[in-house]
Amino acid sequence: MAKIYIDNQEFEVEEQNSLLQTCLSLGFNLPYFCWHPALGSVGACRQCAVKQFKDEQDTQGRLVMSCMTPASDGARISIEDPEATAFRASVIEWLMTNHPHDCPVCEEGGECHLQDMTVLTGHTYRRFRFKKRTFTNQYLGPFLNHEMNRCIACYRCVRFYQDYAGGTDLQVFNTHHHVYFGRHEDGILDNEFSGNLAEVCPTGVFTDKPFSRHYSRKWDLRGAPSVCVHCSLGCNTNPNERYGRLKRTLNRYNHQVNGYFLCDRGRFGGDFVNNEQRLRQPRLHKTNGFQPEPVAQEQALQYLARLLSETKSIIGIGSPRASLEANFALRTLVGEEHFYSGLSGPEATLIATAAHILQNGPARIPSLQEVEQADAILVLGEDLLNTAPRLALSLRQAVRQKAWGIAEELHIPPWQDMSVREASQQQKSPLFMATSTATNLDELATHTYRGAPADLARLGFAVAHCLDPEAPAVPDLTPPQQALAESIAESLKKARRPLIISGVSSQNQALLEAAGNVAWALDHHRQHPAYLYLTLPECNSLGAHLLGGASLDKAFKAAAEGKVETAIILENDLYHQADQVAVETFLKQVKHVVVIDHLHHNTMAQAEIALPASTFAESDGTLVSSEGRAQRFFQVFVPENDIQESWRWLSKAMAAAGRKEGGWQRLDELTYACAGAINSLNSLGSITRAAPGAEFRIQGMRIPREPHRYSGRTAMTADLNVHEPRPPSDPDSPFSFSMEGYPRQPPSATIPYFWAPAWNSIQSVNKFQEEVGGPLRGGSPGARLIEPRPKAKIAYFTQIPPAFERRKEQWLVLPLHHIFGSEALSALAPAIAERVPAPYLALTPEDGAQLKLDSGDEVSLTLGGKIYRLPVRYQNALPPGTAGIPWGLPTLRGIISLPAWGQLSKGTP
Ligand code: SF4
Ligand code: SF4
Ligand code: FES
Repeated sequence: MAKIYIDNQEFEVEEQNSLLQTCLSLGFNLPYFCWHPALGSVGACRQCAVKQFKDEQDTQGRLVMSCMTPASDGARISIEDPEATAFRASVIEWLMTNHPHDCPVCEEGGECHLQDMTVLTGHTYRRFRFKKRTFTNQYLGPFLNHEMNRCIACYRCVRFYQDYAGGTDLQVFNTHHHVYFGRHEDGILDNEFSGNLAEVCPTGVFTDKPFSRHYSRKWDLRGAPSVCVHCSLGCNTNPNERYGRLKRTLNRYNHQVNGYFLCDRGRFGGDFVNNEQRLRQPRLHKTNGFQPEPVAQEQALQYLARLLSETKSIIGIGSPRASLEANFALRTLVGEEHFYSGLSGPEATLIATAAHILQNGPARIPSLQEVEQADAILVLGEDLLNTAPRLALSLRQAVRQKAWGIAEELHIPPWQDMSVREASQQQKSPLFMATSTATNLDELATHTYRGAPADLARLGFAVAHCLDPEAPAVPDLTPPQQALAESIAESLKKARRPLIISGVSSQNQALLEAAGNVAWALDHHRQHPAYLYLTLPECNSLGAHLLGGASLDKAFKAAAEGKVETAIILENDLYHQADQVAVETFLKQVKHVVVIDHLHHNTMAQAEIALPASTFAESDGTLVSSEGRAQRFFQVFVPENDIQESWRWLSKAMAAAGRKEGGWQRLDELTYACAGAINSLNSLGSITRAAPGAEFRIQGMRIPREPHRYSGRTAMTADLNVHEPRPPSDPDSPFSFSMEGYPRQPPSATIPYFWAPAWNSIQSVNKFQEEVGGPLRGGSPGARLIEPRPKAKIAYFTQIPPAFERRKEQWLVLPLHHIFGSEALSALAPAIAERVPAPYLALTPEDGAQLKLDSGDEVSLTLGGKIYRLPVRYQNALPPGTAGIPWGLPTLRGIISLPAWGQLSKGTP
């Protein structure tokens, strides 16, 4: 600890931080631009100047940049010193000489760090009377607007984009006062984290383009804490609404999960909530061959109640994208033995394997923050940027452990960003990428290894054997494979925090088992658990598994045996989970099909009753991320029409049928019932700790979803009726649907928006943290359900697959994941839809030449008895004898079981 003096007050502080970070953590309002807690200091803007004194006798002092000066023992500074104050005011004046002062038409207005800092420094009068520099703006794609005249040249954008996120197409051009931040020419910014620029840029240069289409000022937006539903990582979000539309999604800081950043799928994918394909009223499809008719809610419930009373064999099919509560409500309605998880057979097996490894072994699932601390990493079979994007961003930071180690030896503090980079000269910690295709992390890798999934698994098993001879040996390894396995094992053994990452995207059981073996074998060499992260397909895949229920295939089997008269399908398009023929057969075999979901889809088109379900933005519930973290999402707004939570439909149906069970009126009752029912080791017993319940009050008050400046409560509906509408009541959460309520910081899991006096921008998050850049006050939201079992007796997996062998005139078709397109809901958001690739078939040039195919030629792929005609795209990195097709694109969604052997022929077969 260090003793420092700020304006003659004494403080005990952490010595490793900069003075700026220290002052902000102590609550001082010191202005800054170029510094960012995740990016460190570069001293570019000169905005954070303070006066530093040598000792008590020094009355002169000197100006220093607080972001570049350590909070060392005995440091004496003054923030209030007149010279420092005047300097900061003049800095902002010169930074703004070319700024257009167009706040009234700027979308950043009202949440602009530049506005806040201008007010904070007292720069209130514009003296510059000359012509301003003007720039041409660029088209940067569907996610971001570009208005370069507002730039103050703080360099945060390029530092985030290039140094932090690994992007290459955003650059700095020109010099002097003509510095330009943009692309070399108009075009889509192609880094998958580009949307963060809207929060990183302290002015209105980069703003959220989809939000522009239906823009509202920050103070007019209603928000609630939420969780991203577009992959399994569980990034925390703050979605915003006005006029019944989801307007945008902001990052919600969670120190242990997403920190300051989201991926573009998560930031822009939520627009599916506004999709025209939303089901807004119940529909009854009385007779096959007739169009479904909209019916009143009561009529639909009566119809459903009659089905529940009159049909004998009812099953429920749950969903890995629905909340635990919705799944549990269905499980209660149909009974445990008639509840199916909604996961396909192979996927259910893979997720069960992952859960078994994580629940029963000594390895720890790291949070994303812990991932960033890992100092040796092996990735087995996952193209992380496309399957778990935010995890890929964390790996980019993890490989800098080496740089921070070098800096530590040289006594360079970690926040001295440029000095750390120069001292380390791009040296990186060991990262081994073993994947079937090229990934964007390859450029950081110590070694990349390409192979079919079986070969990747064999490498993993070999590494485990090198670490612990008790782990099974791999037969027939080539000498280079053996050498690589030994080198990976050596690196992992030496590391303080080794990390193994795999997942289910390759749909290969052996890969998961190999990853488990490596993590368990490492345990022999260590005092502390090794890290093991296994990515899963959907936002509640792990929750759906923990809840239990047989796989979809078993439901199909029950229907084929004539054991299913009625099926209730929850938030699940079965065509995404199983083969088209199998789904069609099932839907024909079941007499009554009930679907509860948000959007029209093929399964819903064949339902006898379709009930409109609320999305994540219109409901509350709990999801379990692949970290095993149970997190609560809260309703942002009350949807119009008959849309309501799936669990409410089910609860009302049970009541209408006169059932004793169920009958929940409030979410808490359901959450507690679920936690009580499924409370075995490492299971759902702790989900009630994920966030405060609906009864929670602070000083008797609810937490407001609307900021205190929210405007237009009467005017918003004045075209219909001039009166102030009564806000809806909320039995399910501690939030109010208004600006009334507790005005200060609520518990960390219930922060609906970040704002503090004088801090209107997202930088106000500083005021919510224990120390700037650290956890939120009250801890990081969520409850971890799975912890390592240090002394667990493990049994190594022993099924080592044979090496991949190519077949004559057949290709092993692999699923290739895409951040935009492979996840169904986000692909419905218009901005994301613009980035979804066209279908293609990937092939190595050598294999293409064998078939006399050029890149772009049409090829016929025969797979599972069907023929798909696709253009060829060459990919050098694919293992010879394999081909790849994009996973999950609408036109290819019927292909569920991959990898699979297929035939290729030029043109029509
Ligand atoms: S565009 Fe924004 S982030 Fe980039 S230098 Fe200009 S003001 Fe800073
Ligand atoms: S990484 Fe996954 S959870 Fe996080 S924002 Fe992206 S899609 Fe959402
Ligand atoms: S914040 Fe210190 S110089 Fe920019």
